[in-house]
Amino acid sequence: MAIVFITGSTDGLGRAAAQSLLDQGHRVVLHARSADRAAAVADFTSRAAGVVVGDLRSAAETKGIADQVNAIGRMDAIIHNAGVYTQDSRAATAEGHAGTLAINTLAPYLLTALIERPKRLVYLSSGLHRGGEGSLHDLDWTRRNWDAAKAYAESKLHAVALAFALARRWPQVLSNAVDPGWVRTRMGGAGAPVDLDTGQRTQSWLAVSEEPAAMVSGRYWHHLRQEQPAGEAADPNFQDALIERLSELTGVSLPAA
Ligand SMILES: NC(=O)c1ccc[n+]([C@@H]2O[C@H](COP(=O)([O-])OP(=O)(O)OC[C@H]3O[C@@H](n4cnc5c(N)ncnc54)[C@H](OP(=O)(O)O)[C@@H]3O)[C@@H](O)[C@H]2O)c1
Repeated sequence: MAIVFITGSTDGLGRAAAQSLLDQGHRVVLHARSADRAAAVADFTSRAAGVVVGDLRSAAETKGIADQVNAIGRMDAIIHNAGVYTQDSRAATAEGHAGTLAINTLAPYLLTALIERPKRLVYLSSGLHRGGEGSLHDLDWTRRNWDAAKAYAESKLHAVALAFALARRWPQVLSNAVDPGWVRTRMGGAGAPVDLDTGQRTQSWLAVSEEPAAMVSGRYWHHLRQEQPAGEAADPNFQDALIERLSELTGVSLPAA
């Protein structure tokens, strides 16, 4: 049985993945943005291997999350699930970054760099990442007028590029990205066509399954099938440039292979 850390496990797909993995007998480390929000998982905290707390908008708190996970021990898998959708404004964080970039891109990068290397990494992307090409010249939205949908799309393209970059840099780690589809969560809304269980299945499977089909790396998945992501996300030059920029913006380098 594996031990899996899931970011953003207080609601939606993260919570559903946590529940599914616990029901299969795996150990799960939950994550909530605050002690208050941890109450949202009170019904299964007693079955969890731990609950870590921190707001991913804050680089300082994100580093604290990495410390808390490392104190629990080495994870077998990490599902980078937490995310925000279209935000009304750039909403600069305490460190001065666009909120969407901080939560959806910088936080998974920081956690990847700072948490003891697991055996598997899964990053939640979206089919909308296809509209997110061309971000490198202004990753942090300091020169462009705010465009919420574009900022989200870019962050979800970063998730695929990050997964693929890690697959190349850390060959002993299985690193993949997942488009869960349009799912009925707080983010997806009540009219979304995909149910929660279907929406969480691929990332949970990639995190723990011993089936040969799940033991691959550097792939983009949708409902248990591999798909081709946007060209930029799959381009090693873009991936390397993105990692370099993320290292500059966070002041944290990605450990080498
Ligand atoms: N639902 C869809 O249709 C859909 C489609 C494509 C991709 N996705 C991706 O799937 C992932 C999960 O989405 P979802 O639909 O489950 O969203 P959701 O229902 O809104 O849940 C998001 C989770 O992330 C957490 N989170 C957000 N901001 C945070 C912050 N600053 N610090 C700590 N935790 C934070 C939330 O915590 P709180 O509960 O405290 O807010 C919650 O646990 C996201 O990465 C999303 O981009 C979703």
